[in-house]
Amino acid sequence: MTAKLIKGTEIRDEILGEIKQEVENIKTKYGVVPGLVTILVGENPASISYVTAKIKAAQSLGFKEIQDNQPEDITEQQLLALIDRYNKDDSIHGILVQLPLPKGIDEKKVLNAIDPDKDVDGFHPVNVGRLMIGGAEVKFPPCTPAGIQELIVRSGFETKGAEVVVVGRSNIVGKPIAIMMLQKAANANATVTVVHTATKDLAYHCKRAEILIVAAGVPGLVKPEWIKPGACVIDVGVNRVGEKISEKTGRKVAILKGDVDFDAAKEIAGAITPVPGGVGPMTITMLMRNTLNSLKFKLGIAGT
Ligand code: GUN
Repeated sequence: MTAKLIKGTEIRDEILGEIKQEVENIKTKYGVVPGLVTILVGENPASISYVTAKIKAAQSLGFKEIQDNQPEDITEQQLLALIDRYNKDDSIHGILVQLPLPKGIDEKKVLNAIDPDKDVDGFHPVNVGRLMIGGAEVKFPPCTPAGIQELIVRSGFETKGAEVVVVGRSNIVGKPIAIMMLQKAANANATVTVVHTATKDLAYHCKRAEILIVAAGVPGLVKPEWIKPGACVIDVGVNRVGEKISEKTGRKVAILKGDVDFDAAKEIAGAITPVPGGVGPMTITMLMRNTLNSLKFKLGIAGT
């Protein structure tokens, strides 16, 4: 292995330590803690495990946290009323509605009902607009792209003027990370190319990348010969390709594979994220940071 392994778990722990310290300082000085509510509708097993992890992280940081689980048959009207209640609750600084929502509930309508100043997922059109403008406008960068940016910067890669290639154009990862890396700002200021399913020559673009961010959802899409020697490779793919019995717990667990052929790519890249343990741990961490920042905005101490 020649590439440096970018360990999301280590960078996560570093950032969570910073957040915890800030929460303690704010609690001492202002007597308040960040408040996060997660709203889960129904019993989708993957959603339950994501929400549980988010609540656990919030607890470990000393946040006020509410896990508000609602039945599958909740009406859209009832869900909107619930969101309105949390919008008005001064002790809540972050509202997260776990997706996907059951059929029959208009996801867009629900996300748009969240107060943009409590939208710690960064999915509300107002926050998407703020992200596009950049700079001090940005309140809540979406969590996975924010985590990717931290991985790149904390691994010591220069982003200014770097050739960044993003594979994928989803609203949750591809588009926002492209915009974020493009901004004229520290930790960004890159030359950004976005490639997607209609791109004529994926290999050509990937080979030019000094920083390659892959969020396509196609296992093993990026071949080792597409990687520029020494490049920083961020693999956002989490593809379930089978099941195995965990040696630790004896239970069935998913076999996960990224969008990059890791075993071959690690011999060419300068640094690469593993799957799992790369980008994954960063998403919840950035959710915690957004929730803390929401409180800081309210207290008028953001940016400190
Ligand atoms: N479902 C899968 N990922 C996410 C996420 O980041 N936020 C929300 N709200 N739902 C999700």
